[in-house]
Amino acid sequence: MLDQVADIISKCSVGAVLTGAGISAESGVPTFRGRQGLWKKFRPEQLATMEAFLASPEVVWEWYNWRRELISDVQPNPGHHALKEMEEFFQEFTLITQNVDNLHRLAGSSRILELHGNIYRNKCADCGFVLDDDMDIDPADIPTCDKCGGRVRPDVVWFGEMLPGDVIEQAFFEAERADVFLSVGTSALVQPAASLPLVAKRGGATLIEINPERTPLSDLADFSFQAKSGELLPDLVKMVHDRKEGADRR
Ligand code: OAD
Ligand code: ZN
Repeated sequence: MLDQVADIISKCSVGAVLTGAGISAESGVPTFRGRQGLWKKFRPEQLATMEAFLASPEVVWEWYNWRRELISDVQPNPGHHALKEMEEFFQEFTLITQNVDNLHRLAGSSRILELHGNIYRNKCADCGFVLDDDMDIDPADIPTCDKCGGRVRPDVVWFGEMLPGDVIEQAFFEAERADVFLSVGTSALVQPAASLPLVAKRGGATLIEINPERTPLSDLADFSFQAKSGELLPDLVKMVHDRKEGADRR
């Protein structure tokens, strides 16, 4: 099956991928759902909503500082690196991620659409003005916005919030015109990101899923691999490489 996918990728010119927390699992970043998931231990509505921030901003900041620390200790894994290498197989390749962990950037991917923001960025909770990337926040003394005096919050998308309009619009545009679309390490449950693979397939893309567990996408995908992305993606990239080199020699 992987052979077939390598054949298809080696002949396509527009590629896109949607990643979720699972791609970073092998780096040691916990996922949200599943047995070890963050949402098993913490309640999202007490940590990742505007209501929570208004009620107890210090608790919300403690949680984000904890996650920042956790994430700053980890490195991209072979799955992230393979997606960076995949760029060269296509004329155009877009990496759409639901992750806020910055690991795709660290791996060097060039065109990244961050649907849910980036945990290292801060913004004003009132006017949305985006602040310096690496400002550390003391939960007991949360800084305020220079423009309007609002409190500073992490620049991530919380439950009940809209995604950044230009980013999600671009993501749908790329999904629609992709020849091949990979859904990697996502439970495919959170909208609107979960619609992207469906839009891609409806637009004619070959849909490939990589996830050790089955998801609502598994039956719809043209190819569904129950595997870890850090193991399967490097194999896939190597197979496409070999085909491209073979074709160049001919
Ligand atoms: P989830 O935690 O819902 O799903 C992670 C998926 O990764 C699961 O389906 C796992 O089976 C899979 N997985 C685990 N290990 C893997 C591995 N080594 N290789 C490949 N896949 C693996 O995370 P997301 O789908 O990203 O939103 O969740 C979407 C959104 O829900 C997140 O962005 C976050 C969360 O609430 C916000 O915070 C707005
Ligand atoms: Zn402001």
